[in-house]
Amino acid sequence: MVHTVADSSKHKSMREGGKILSSVFDFLGGIVKEGVTARYIDDHVKQFIEKHHAEPGFLGYQGYGYSTCISKNDEIVHGIPYPDKVFFEGDCVSIDVGVRYKGYYVDAARTFLIGRVSDAVRHLAAVTEQSFFVGISVLKSGVRLGDMGYEMQTYIESHGLTVVRDLYSHGVGRSLHEDPLIPNYGKKGSGVKVCRGMSLAIEPMVAMGGADIETLDDNWTIVTKDRQWAAHYENTIIITDNGVDVVTIA
Ligand code: MF3
Ligand code: CO
Repeated sequence: MVHTVADSSKHKSMREGGKILSSVFDFLGGIVKEGVTARYIDDHVKQFIEKHHAEPGFLGYQGYGYSTCISKNDEIVHGIPYPDKVFFEGDCVSIDVGVRYKGYYVDAARTFLIGRVSDAVRHLAAVTEQSFFVGISVLKSGVRLGDMGYEMQTYIESHGLTVVRDLYSHGVGRSLHEDPLIPNYGKKGSGVKVCRGMSLAIEPMVAMGGADIETLDDNWTIVTKDRQWAAHYENTIIITDNGVDVVTIA
């Protein structure tokens, strides 16, 4: 069932931006493959967003020069789409994209598996994606964010994987990153109480090894300290009285 909140122009714009962003990932499904480079993907995402009369949300954010973050294998998030970052069979590639439309941002990420991957990597990607849905399944107006974090953490850990704790989900709207800062782990009954109309980017980051992270010398790319692989899945949502609207899934 789709729950629709009273249509403020903010929510309307975010839903429209969300449709564009959702179609970016459909488009990516057709071009992400073995042998392609991250820079090629970034160029095509930029063109695709602009063709749809929207702006790349990450371009220019704190001096960032690209429309996507592309993070492979031991890279968790904020990977730069370098021209020599080639996708090989077996790779686990997170592609994170922002769209700004009519003054509002939407933010989402998917993990793509290149060709045949190991069972462990398939498990990592599946659990990461599913943890998002498990987490948001308890959200509605009046619920605390610790309740969502608890569900995500419990699900991820019960599948033998680790929640990255030093990177957060966040509010999104007029700005790409807004309050509150939202842990992807937590305790029931703790944290900020959400209310109807809040717009949030929920983005579990999950590692196969330890939770410790490190930033590379390019000052953007965040990797796992133990260099074990990680995955990332993200959508922008709007809180309603009965649940949430996921605006970045068609
Ligand atoms: N989705 C990313 C996040 O929430 C946005 C990265 S902004 C960029 O952290 F400038 F790093 F691209
Ligand atoms: Co985000």
